Amino acid sequence: MRKRLFIKTYGCQMNVYDSARMAELMAPLGYARAETPDDADLVVLNTCHIREKAAEKVFSELGGIRLLKRAKERQGERMLVAVAGCVAQAQGQEIIRRAPFVDMVFGPQTYHRLPELVARATREGGGVLDTSFPAEPKFDYLPETAAAGVTALLSIQEGCDKFCTFCVVPYTRGAEFSRPAAQVIAEAERIVAAGAREITLLGQNVNAYHGIAPERGEWGLGDLLRALAGVPGLERLRYTTSHPRDVDDGLIAAHHDVEQVMPFLHLPVQSGSDRILAAMNRSHTAGDYCRTVEKLRQARPDLALSSDFIVGYPGESDLDFRATLDLVAEIGFAQSFSFKYSPRPGTPAASEKQLPEAVKADRLTELQALLQRQQRGFNAAAIGATMPVLLEKPGRHDGQLVGRSPYLQPVHADAAPEMIGKIVQVHITAMTSNSLFGVVVGKRDEAAL
Ligand code: 5AD
Ligand code: SF4
Repeated sequence: MRKRLFIKTYGCQMNVYDSARMAELMAPLGYARAETPDDADLVVLNTCHIREKAAEKVFSELGGIRLLKRAKERQGERMLVAVAGCVAQAQGQEIIRRAPFVDMVFGPQTYHRLPELVARATREGGGVLDTSFPAEPKFDYLPETAAAGVTALLSIQEGCDKFCTFCVVPYTRGAEFSRPAAQVIAEAERIVAAGAREITLLGQNVNAYHGIAPERGEWGLGDLLRALAGVPGLERLRYTTSHPRDVDDGLIAAHHDVEQVMPFLHLPVQSGSDRILAAMNRSHTAGDYCRTVEKLRQARPDLALSSDFIVGYPGESDLDFRATLDLVAEIGFAQSFSFKYSPRPGTPAASEKQLPEAVKADRLTELQALLQRQQRGFNAAAIGATMPVLLEKPGRHDGQLVGRSPYLQPVHADAAPEMIGKIVQVHITAMTSNSLFGVVVGKRDEAAL
């Protein structure tokens, strides 16, 4: 009998990837992915711990799920409920205690055991908890993936050994681990054979990648990008999220040499103040960051950057904050994410004296105004230009498709549905706050029609 599997995914692209793999894992057992949790046989909340009040949001979502589970039980049927991901890893016991109707709790490193956990929960009833960091890498146990749209995610690295003082990731995702290069290449070949034209390589610290090489020794991310560029049909490569400290010469050279590597890089700096960067345990200065960007731009002059910023970190003075504004002005970002510092239980900075909320809010407003000006300026500069766009899906209006520029800007243009999956040259004519609009003027690498 067909069973319904509902997965709600919170947070980053790693979680999106993990949810897709969980669905693949359950497909042979008859579970098909459902759009809503109503009447589902298995509900998985794949949680994220990076934002504030993450656990509270999960408990509130669970309140609704509990009602659905009761309704299903009244019909004499069973709904299994699982909490997965980083909140599960961090608060497993607490979830079982506060929400005893939850059947399974497991972390990002044990979801390959989902079929076994489902069998145990069905058999034993009650909360089955698995938040271990197992010795066996889960990738060796996951089924081969073939799922793909035009763009696909591919996880190559997980975990983090950097221990930035504000961040929960080293505690929830565990120690750094890189998948063997041959395994990554095989997955890329399968995804491209299934129709993907663009792959985004994922990792919490993706450029710390140091996987076993196919023959001998280890490969860095630069080596891996070069090898992946050889997969026939793979037109675009991206990777996220990088740490400035791990941008090595091999990676910079790949940006120069490998045409498929897109000229857009998310490289979080967090702060422009050396004092705050040291307090954050970032292991780079503002100067290091600027020099790295300079080298990348020499290798790839059309490179654009995005970053994450935290304002109001404990001890951040007005002068420290000005240093962040100065760095933003110096680099010029195409896009950015910025946050007020908020304490995460168990992380070193959480026990430091906190700045007043109003100071954080004022700084965030000022920083975001500058970042938005830069983003608008970057998008406006595209008007009048012609750029290659990978068409991904139908747009809002009939006859329109939407795709992405090399810089991940959404681009809308009139084109026939069979053009999905193709790269076309689009002459950009207009913009809104987040999107570009244009006219298809040629196929890839063609001069204007
Ligand atoms: N407070 C505010 N922002 C945070 N981030 C991570 N932890 C915190 C925190 N405690 C931000 C960082 C990171 C992004 C994913 O989330 O900027 O790069
Ligand atoms: Fe978190 Fe990234 Fe720092 Fe690792 S490098 S601790 S994932 S912010």
